[in-house]
Amino acid sequence: MVPLSLAQSADALNGYYTNLYGYYAALRALPWYSQILITGLLSIISSIAIPLLAFVLYYPYWIYLRPRYFSPFRNLPGPPVSEGHWFWGEAIQLINKEYGTYQTEWNRRFGGKPGQPGFIKTVGPIGLERLIVFSPTALRQIMNDYQYTKPPFASRILSQITGHGLLTVEYDVHKKMRRDLNPAFATKYLAMQYEECAPALAAMCDEFDRLIGNKDAEVINAYDVVTRALLDIICLTAFGYEVDSIHNSDEPLSKAYHTLIGLQGGGNLAALIVILSLPFGVGTAFIEGLLRKNDYWLPVLHKIASASWLFYPVSVLAEYVDSVGTIQRIAERLLAQKTAEAKALKRLQTHDASQQGKIDVLSLIIKGALDAETEAEKTNNGKTARKMDARECKAHIMTFLGAGHETTSSGVSWTIWLLANNLEVQRKLRSECLEFLAQSSSGHPSYYELRELKYLNAVVVESLRVRPSVPGTFRKSTKDSYLDGVWCPKGTYLAISSFAINTDPRVWGPDAADFVPERWLPEETHGNSSSVSAEWDPTYSYMSFIAGNHHCIGKNMAQIEMKAVLFQMITKFAWTKVSEDQTIRGDTAITMKPRGGVPVRLRRLTEEDYAAA
Ligand code: HEM
Repeated sequence: MVPLSLAQSADALNGYYTNLYGYYAALRALPWYSQILITGLLSIISSIAIPLLAFVLYYPYWIYLRPRYFSPFRNLPGPPVSEGHWFWGEAIQLINKEYGTYQTEWNRRFGGKPGQPGFIKTVGPIGLERLIVFSPTALRQIMNDYQYTKPPFASRILSQITGHGLLTVEYDVHKKMRRDLNPAFATKYLAMQYEECAPALAAMCDEFDRLIGNKDAEVINAYDVVTRALLDIICLTAFGYEVDSIHNSDEPLSKAYHTLIGLQGGGNLAALIVILSLPFGVGTAFIEGLLRKNDYWLPVLHKIASASWLFYPVSVLAEYVDSVGTIQRIAERLLAQKTAEAKALKRLQTHDASQQGKIDVLSLIIKGALDAETEAEKTNNGKTARKMDARECKAHIMTFLGAGHETTSSGVSWTIWLLANNLEVQRKLRSECLEFLAQSSSGHPSYYELRELKYLNAVVVESLRVRPSVPGTFRKSTKDSYLDGVWCPKGTYLAISSFAINTDPRVWGPDAADFVPERWLPEETHGNSSSVSAEWDPTYSYMSFIAGNHHCIGKNMAQIEMKAVLFQMITKFAWTKVSEDQTIRGDTAITMKPRGGVPVRLRRLTEEDYAAA
């Protein structure tokens, strides 16, 4: 092709503008309604054509060529690109099956291959690649370096519910918050908090008793009862707040929390994502504006929503604003009450909050903040003093509820299910717990005694291994780096599948997927299961609470709550599956809950049971 001279180019451009002007003049000559129609049509065509063109150009490179020929991960093991959907990649498969099914299968098919045994590459929607990480070396790096953050989009959505609490903050803010909160989760406080749970545990057993009624046994959805008991327990231990949701489902905090959880469904979540994705943070500012003035906006939203079913999204927004507003008001009240209590304790010169019975996590955090304030005033004229405001208080409440309730109640529910499937394990557990009761003078194990029940511990740890309540999490790399020798450019999505890591047969042996509490009892052998292999890593082969910077701060609290609930149940009731072919599938949003709960056939223990134990 002969290159155009400058003058020729100018002529061509001139001709183009003359033509364009000609079209414009012709359009102006038409009647006004034709002008509107034609310009309208042209804008619609261009708004469809431009994205279509972008897609046509994008598709071959990002969806087809890149994963096959140009991606830095193209040589890593993983399902061939051709196995996935042309647009959605592996995403449809992953959503359709129970969480962990594919991760486990891919690990079996592609994991442990020479070259890079520690990673599996998969492709998601629009060619987005992600690495599923198994390598303990890489996991150690990811979990302990703040450059691997939660994907910002996930954090933004989460922070709409939990605010800026531990779950959503990163870097130095996280480090500082974690340092402030850690003392409140110390063992001595856990032991005291555990004692406060006795009434909630008794109410749970009474409820089971009531549901069995006069019958010998009854089919009961254990999840429904356990989840309410654990809400009461977390509210007491974390905020010193009495909910009693076993008897009172209308209690405001419990109601607001359940409404919020209920809004997690696909359509509502999609609406929230759309609002939050509006450019320049418009969506976030809009929701925050509604929340700030919720007294004013809530009746307006309800009015709009009641006008027609077409305004369904507005009714969802109203429910959201209503429940978050309620939690905000309770947070303000709790903050005022606990700050006053902490100040009173200070005046009494009582340094140990536990001496006054204020041992819930929130009271301890507020007391810690007040102490830090006084210290800063002494040393720095108050310049660095950090006061906790109602927003931060709300963030802690929502974080502890969000992170601490569903997780623990799913954990207990899965354990009940596993025990219904493994009656010999159930019998052994009952025998250990009843033996303890027979020898105990109090009839109620203390925190330290509960920790010493070895089989109970093995049951809980093993249940969280095979059915982790948080079956996976994500990180995104914010800088270029190498992970266990693999090039990981900035922006790489890293999937940590606790489910697949916890049940990796290369690490846990041929019965890795089975529920075998005995594997945690070194003195016992258990037939078909080999002990863990040389590949076992004490931290990174069991990832139910993950590890490193963001490891679960409530791990000990969760385990003691699970043990307390199971101890009560196993020493009063026995249960089996409802039918031989009963199965329960896990439903995963962030936590993995049993779909439809855990219906079991529950009966009270009889004299024979006690005698046989
Ligand atoms: C069986 C029950 C539980 C399980 C399986 C569990 C699991 C986890 C996991 C996997 C994470 C890390 C999430 C991530 O970074 O992607 C986490 C974080 C967290 N958990 Fe738990 N959790 C449980 C119970 C609790 C309880 C009872 C509390 C107490 C209030 C709690 C409070 C938290 C908090 C505050 C974080 C954020 C920690 C941080 O980022 O520094 N969790 N949990």
